[in-house]
Amino acid sequence: MGTGLEVLIDMTSPLKDETTPGILFVDDEVQILKALSRLFRQEPVQVYTANSASEALALLDRESIQLVMSDQRMPEIPGVDFLQSVRERWPEVIRIMLTGYTEMNVAVQAINQGEIHRLVTKPWNDEELRATVRQALDTYFMRRELDRLNNLTKQQNRELEDLNHTLEIKVEERTQEVEEKRAELKEAYVSTIRAFTEAVEAKDPYTRGHSERVGVYASRIARELSCGNEFIERIYLAGLLHDIGKIGVPDAIITKPDRLTPEEYAEIKRHPEIGARILEPVSFLADIVPCVRHHHEWYDGSDRGYPDGLSGSEIPFPSRIILVADTVEAMTSDRPYRKGLPLHIVVKEIQKYSGTQFDPEAAEAFLSIIEREEEDFLEKASKFNIESFLSER
Ligand SMILES: [Fe+2]
Ligand SMILES: [Fe+2]
Repeated sequence: MGTGLEVLIDMTSPLKDETTPGILFVDDEVQILKALSRLFRQEPVQVYTANSASEALALLDRESIQLVMSDQRMPEIPGVDFLQSVRERWPEVIRIMLTGYTEMNVAVQAINQGEIHRLVTKPWNDEELRATVRQALDTYFMRRELDRLNNLTKQQNRELEDLNHTLEIKVEERTQEVEEKRAELKEAYVSTIRAFTEAVEAKDPYTRGHSERVGVYASRIARELSCGNEFIERIYLAGLLHDIGKIGVPDAIITKPDRLTPEEYAEIKRHPEIGARILEPVSFLADIVPCVRHHHEWYDGSDRGYPDGLSGSEIPFPSRIILVADTVEAMTSDRPYRKGLPLHIVVKEIQKYSGTQFDPEAAEAFLSIIEREEEDFLEKASKFNIESFLSER
């Protein structure tokens, strides 16, 4: 005995697999190794034995071993030195020292230096030794499970971080797509409205650009009144569409260079209602319809306003602003029968009818802009772009 590697495989123990812990006994006395093997015959472990440190190290290299119990007094290498090597190369393996009372100070030192986990004294008590090994193995597997869980948590955290990052990118992409689609839709919406107004203005070359300029002036007055962007966008579109109903008025009346007869004037006065009726079926223009219908109402509610003779706050606010913008545009533009009127005449007119025809607030806002900008107010209209105007705020 004692030559070469001695491995005692206990036939009654379960077949070796990954879940069966391997334990290794190291002692130069074969009788002790045999006794220890017998002791663990009924335990669910794989027992290995070696009668020298070098054999034990070779076994550790080759087999899956979770616990080493070594004698201290051995001829070649003492147990404490052997267990130190085990600690260096397999730090997770549980190390137990088997020692007689005479080497107790070596063992205590080994414990203090962290070389070994437990100490078993010779002669041992069978039950105590089995319990010690079981407990040590429990510790080993608990530690390993803890490590596994820690690693799992770390890995899951990493995966979550990756997922979060991917999601963030996806959300950003989607948001951008939605933004682009929204911009496209809005552009299509405004082009449709422009096509409508161009159809109207084609009937009378003298009014070309009238609707666009009314939209611009109304937007600028609304901004002067500190209205929000949503309101300004709505009033701009309402401006573009305010005279859409003229499409239903005979061309002969619209382009007539002379004064209109009362019958012809009555015909013209139908355009706000016709306009509202044209726009009503278009769902996305729903909030524009009342603005169009009431853009010729007088603020004082007199019967000079039409179609419904509304007064004050009964008239939609955008309509009251459009009426000022409409009047300014009409007066300053050339007509077949007259040149455009100078701005100071227009200012007088707006002042004169403030409170009767015009909402004083809307009139006042227009007059404030003219006070600052004078003729520039009219000239700026040709360079106006609703998108950049809205983004100024
Ligand atoms: Fe009109
Ligand atoms: Fe008009």
